[in-house]
Amino acid sequence: MRKPVMAGNWKMYKTAAETTSFFEKFLPLVRDCSHCEIVICPVFVNLPAAVEAARGSNVRIGAQDLFWETEGAYTGEVSGPMIAAAGGSHVIVGHSERRQYFGETDESVLKKTRAALNAGLTPIVCVGETLEQRESGRTAGVLAAQFDKGIGPLSPEEFGRILIAYEPVWAIGTGRTASPEIAAEAHRVLREQARARFGEEAAENLRILYGGSVKPENVKGLMAQPQIDGALVGGACLKPESFASIVNF
Ligand code: PGA
Repeated sequence: MRKPVMAGNWKMYKTAAETTSFFEKFLPLVRDCSHCEIVICPVFVNLPAAVEAARGSNVRIGAQDLFWETEGAYTGEVSGPMIAAAGGSHVIVGHSERRQYFGETDESVLKKTRAALNAGLTPIVCVGETLEQRESGRTAGVLAAQFDKGIGPLSPEEFGRILIAYEPVWAIGTGRTASPEIAAEAHRVLREQARARFGEEAAENLRILYGGSVKPENVKGLMAQPQIDGALVGGACLKPESFASIVNF
């Protein structure tokens, strides 16, 4: 049985004070939750505030990105060991906003994923097709290519420590969720890639989260799909009540 992971991506929202007050309201609402792992990813500067606020709870803290070097003259960048030292346990890699606005590619995703693993972090590796790619019938091919270049070169041991998030670009922040069937079909494609490259057991153990306009109203339907092992939530994770009701689906 794959334990679900409910992860919140705060994107570029919340100050340190807002981070602390979120946790004050959120933690009591998920205190009894043991059916899934809970991860929240604030901006870098608020990692310490989030780690402090979540200390002793069942909520883990992650970053939204990392650089692949451990240290050096890379102005503005943050490394995996620095995230780990700040108390982070997870890191999002290759989110579509980073691919779209910051030039990330499958090649940088691979390097960052390896760097995260070397730092002992759990990478949440994001893949997904654009609307144009879906409408031209290329979804499976795009996912296969992203898997091939960004994930496939990992060693079996490395692969066993990652999470994948399937996030169709057309569903992110648009209110237009993939139907449970469409999401499950993409997850099937990705699990098939995993099976072909890493074998049956690795594929069965792989947890694939769905992301893209997940809300309290649609999370149940998505999580009812056996292929879907959790959610990566943006907009609907910013309010404690809303994210708690997603976590407690
Ligand atoms: P959304 O974002 O839930 O606001 O669509 C999801 C994500 O970008 O991870």
